[in-house]
Amino acid sequence: MLGKNYKRYTVTAALPYTNGPVHIGHLAGVYVPADIYVRYLRSSGSDVVFICGSDEHGVPITLKARKEGITPQQVVDKYHKIIGDSFQDFGISFNIYHRTSSDTHHQTASEIFKTLYDKGVFTEEVTEQYFDENAGQFLADRYIVGTCPNCGNENAYGDQCEKCGTSLSPTELINPHSTLSGAKPVLKETRNWFLPLDKMQQQIETYVDSHKEWRPNVYGQCKSWLNGGLHPRAMTRDLDWGVDVPVKGADGKVLYVWFEAPIGYISATKDLCNPGLDLQKKSEYYIKDSLKPTDSWQKYWQDEETKLVHFIGKDNIVFHCIIFPAILMAHGKYRLADNVPANEFLNLEGDKISTSRNWAVWLNEYLLDLPGKQDVLRYVLTATAPETKDNDFTWKDFQARNNNELVAIFGNFINRVLVLSHKYFEGKVVFGSEFSAVDLKVREELKKYPSSISVSIEQYRFREALTEFMNLARLGNKYLADEEPWKVIKTDEERVKTILNVGLQIAANLAILAEPFLPFTSAKLFGMLNLKTQGWNRAGRMDLLERGHQLNESSLLFEKIEDEVIDYQIKKLMDTKTANAQEEATPELAKKNITFDQFTTMDIRVGKILAAEKVAKTKKLLKLQVDTGIDQRTIVSGIAEYFEPDQIVGKNISVLVNLEPREIKGILSQGMILMAENSEGKLSFVAPTEDFPSGSVVR
Ligand code: 2FM
Ligand code: ZN
Repeated sequence: MLGKNYKRYTVTAALPYTNGPVHIGHLAGVYVPADIYVRYLRSSGSDVVFICGSDEHGVPITLKARKEGITPQQVVDKYHKIIGDSFQDFGISFNIYHRTSSDTHHQTASEIFKTLYDKGVFTEEVTEQYFDENAGQFLADRYIVGTCPNCGNENAYGDQCEKCGTSLSPTELINPHSTLSGAKPVLKETRNWFLPLDKMQQQIETYVDSHKEWRPNVYGQCKSWLNGGLHPRAMTRDLDWGVDVPVKGADGKVLYVWFEAPIGYISATKDLCNPGLDLQKKSEYYIKDSLKPTDSWQKYWQDEETKLVHFIGKDNIVFHCIIFPAILMAHGKYRLADNVPANEFLNLEGDKISTSRNWAVWLNEYLLDLPGKQDVLRYVLTATAPETKDNDFTWKDFQARNNNELVAIFGNFINRVLVLSHKYFEGKVVFGSEFSAVDLKVREELKKYPSSISVSIEQYRFREALTEFMNLARLGNKYLADEEPWKVIKTDEERVKTILNVGLQIAANLAILAEPFLPFTSAKLFGMLNLKTQGWNRAGRMDLLERGHQLNESSLLFEKIEDEVIDYQIKKLMDTKTANAQEEATPELAKKNITFDQFTTMDIRVGKILAAEKVAKTKKLLKLQVDTGIDQRTIVSGIAEYFEPDQIVGKNISVLVNLEPREIKGILSQGMILMAENSEGKLSFVAPTEDFPSGSVVR
């Protein structure tokens, strides 16, 4: 172990948003490096909990629900299962894969908010936030898009521009519009609770400055935030999907997702360490008895002798290095992260990975398309990990690394040494004459590998660690190539016994050292060597296999990947590209298909406007009295800029009568008038061409 000795480790991996499956960008950036780190720690005998779960709140989920015409809960249930299953199949060895919609999380996040609230940490501020008058809703974060003031991207979100990475607030957007209705939003006052990061600047700066060992990209980003001066940040939002704000006067508000999501790590640890909970039943993923923690959750979060490490993608740096630590500092009882290894981004075939453009290799699809090849992807993503700069994944490179590295170096060495042992000595570990000078040199070299790989892993340099691991396989290959047991067997069987003994000891070392990187391969190799899994501290030795030990049958460790497998994957991406190009060429996109049943849930009637008046203090709204044929009711409609009230009285219209009533400007609006809008935004009533009686059904 390097540096300070810790009694235990809490390792977290960013909670993925549950609005889509996980893709290779997530894996390369967060989950594969985190899993290597944790597997290495476990193999070295450390007490470690590895925590993750679904981030089930936040605007992306509600937007997805709207798009798919289902509830947010249905969205998160669907993707929680897809993501959880695929992580498990892929061998990401979380102790728990939890979820932020759980009761434990709602309680934990509420408690922490309440503690800060009671301590008087928050400031209560009334600010103007954008509000969509058509939708009757405030537009937080991703509910609003507009032009980025920094780079001119016309599709920047209210919280961030994905093109240039700048973090934004909705009021900074140029030409903002609502993602709900497309309307130009208005500013409206609302009260929220703010974390006064400005007052905490000094404290946070001291914390960040005490971590100059962090990766330059992480430390640098923190410093640039700090140098720009921290500002108070709202910790509550006017939304209806999330953790309710647990104080009086906060109806209709939830905790800011970046307040509560990192607390999800703590909630997950609480459930993990609660022996009375049957987590499997609760559809949280809990992996094997051997991964049960040994201590209380408090030990993993509040004890000075625990090392806390957050693995994240680079877009999460400020939240994990500034905002979450600030929350924990204000609380007072928690340890702060010791390290926050964040990777840069992985591109795919030269293009930025994008969920919305379906430009990704999705883990769940990979597992179906290339069954049994988990380790190949783990290998390629580690070998090309975007540790210091953005990197590119290509299927050709994937194939080349499998065929030229895994098959030709690691697999080839193992295959040769095992096949020869079976061929010459019936699969028994034998030893002949003394070690030669070459053998002794190999033994000396072998000794150095475990610690040099450890150093790289402990410094979060996983690519380097993997290269070093492969160098040991190269050493084995070179040894066999130089010693040529297949030739020597004709003249000196005793010498061949020793050569194969050395080869097999290297193979056993590779089985141990492969475990963090290639866990499935490691298990297979242990099986072929007929050895029980052994820990990291056993590596570096030449006596892992005793003389007389019987090996098991051997088979190929890796198989060549043929062109057609790769061509299929490339074609899949090309099809996506074609579909995207077609979409871009069609300016007005049709919405996603709905079923007939979904259509019939809408009750649309012909109606007549009986009275109309302007809603005070608004430019756009008219208050209409409408005869629907069923009843007479009030409907608030955003058409005042196009129609004078007395012009429209007596007009035939179409009304969606079973739209849930909602309050707009203090008036209960009971339905929606259907309007056609041309490309200039001009509105026209949608109505029968003849005078039809009110109540006639539109279908
Ligand atoms: O960027 C994301 O995908 C976020 N869902 C990560 C959250 S990490 C943690 F704070 F929960
Ligand atoms: Zn931008």
